[in-house]
Amino acid sequence: PDLPPQPTFPALQASIGFSFLSFLGIVWTVPSIAQPFADKGLRGRDLCKPGGRESGPWVPECMGLPLACWYIALMMLFIPFPFSHMFTPRKGEEVGRETFPQAELSLYLSSLLSLFTATLLGFLDDLFDIRWRHKLPIPLIASVPMLLVYYSEGGLTSVVLPRIADKWLSAAGLHVGRVVNLGPLYYLYLILVPTFTTNAINILAGINGVEAIQALVIAASILLNDLLFLPIWPRSFLIALGGVGNPHEGRLLHWAAGEVVKRHLMSSYFMMPLVGGILGFLWHNWYPARAFPGDTFCYFTGMAFSAVAIQGHFSKTLILFFIPQIFNFILSCPQIFHIVPCPRHRLPKYSEATDTLSPSVAEFTKPLTWPAIIILRIFEALRLVRLTREVEHAAYNGKGSTKQVSTRSGRIISCTNMTILNFLLVNFGPMRESSLCTLLGAIQVGGSLVAFGVRYGMASWVYGG
Ligand code: UD1
Ligand code: MG
Repeated sequence: PDLPPQPTFPALQASIGFSFLSFLGIVWTVPSIAQPFADKGLRGRDLCKPGGRESGPWVPECMGLPLACWYIALMMLFIPFPFSHMFTPRKGEEVGRETFPQAELSLYLSSLLSLFTATLLGFLDDLFDIRWRHKLPIPLIASVPMLLVYYSEGGLTSVVLPRIADKWLSAAGLHVGRVVNLGPLYYLYLILVPTFTTNAINILAGINGVEAIQALVIAASILLNDLLFLPIWPRSFLIALGGVGNPHEGRLLHWAAGEVVKRHLMSSYFMMPLVGGILGFLWHNWYPARAFPGDTFCYFTGMAFSAVAIQGHFSKTLILFFIPQIFNFILSCPQIFHIVPCPRHRLPKYSEATDTLSPSVAEFTKPLTWPAIIILRIFEALRLVRLTREVEHAAYNGKGSTKQVSTRSGRIISCTNMTILNFLLVNFGPMRESSLCTLLGAIQVGGSLVAFGVRYGMASWVYGG
């Protein structure tokens, strides 16, 4: 049977146009709605500025909402473009239910639906500070339509085992083969992806520009990865990059035909305007910030990443782009799960005298449990946190005065908060807010370089042969 005509790249060019619109739209909208938002109470004190919690400057909060609205509106206007070839059918061909790429259309629609849910959740969180246990299940529910579309598309649920795992399993008498079908377990994993991506950026937050820079680097990395799959590169470039080969060896393109190209094309349609929008937002959010992203921004961008990665079948590559967030999440676990006390705000502490940030601390008023003490000691040994211990007023020296002895065995009275930002300050010393944000941006770029290395370099080594 004749295949329906394939969409080509006019839509990609349109998408570049939409990215500019998205950038300009945000640069222009944010200042004009900042005041009305602040008037409604959607504002927060910039805590890392002179005055801090008591009298720091007010900054309009929740500016991720105009970004999300603008973006969703643009994506809706964009929907006809990838299907434009259907509006001018070839001779003797009718457009109908049979020929229209319904499946692709449902990919778009379900992604938009998930984006809407995430935006709503973020907005409600900005308004009401929803409790963790209440907001955690929402991304789970929001991903159901997306997963159903994934299922209807063939619902790949198998993973390719690394060569060495296959060898070990075979040696142990378990011949499962190189391709293992995980079935429902794979869906469980897919449901957890949006839960992670929506929350991961939100807990790496609190200094000017930091949420936006993370989202920007991740979006740009996804886009770059998508573009690598499109047949727009000269063969010599691909050979130089890693060669042309078998997909199971993790080699680049050329083999990327039909379906794979389509999926990455769709992902790039979503990522291009997002990159534009985030850049526009960063314009206002960079130090000194004139707009705060709010939780809306974090949930909305996190869901956009999950949506394209799940629908595009590259969720494992996506996870690789979250290396700093994974580190931050693991580091945060003792505080998030309340093994170690967690203050409302864990962002670094501002010092007016030097205009720099230093690590903020969690003070322990109640005695610590033994799991907490073990975790704190391990984290201290790994230089992840700095602990303060009670100084022992000990050892009467016989001359009527006391000597202060700081021992490693004293009672722990505080620890630096367990975030990557405080970790950097513990190890590199105090620095200015903008420097810390730039450093985190650089780490995020470094993480993406490692991700590309793992995906395209190591994959052939681990999976090949
Ligand atoms: C998350 C973090 C919290 C961190 C907060 C900062 C966890 C579990 N929660 O909470 O530790 O303190 O984000 O965003 O890790 N703010 C600034 N400068 C900025 C951005 C934000 O001072 O550049 C302050 C403002 O007062 C703003 C507030 O942070 O109003 C926003 O906090 P919010 O997003 O509501 O905190 P959570 O996401 O709940
Ligand atoms: Mg937040």
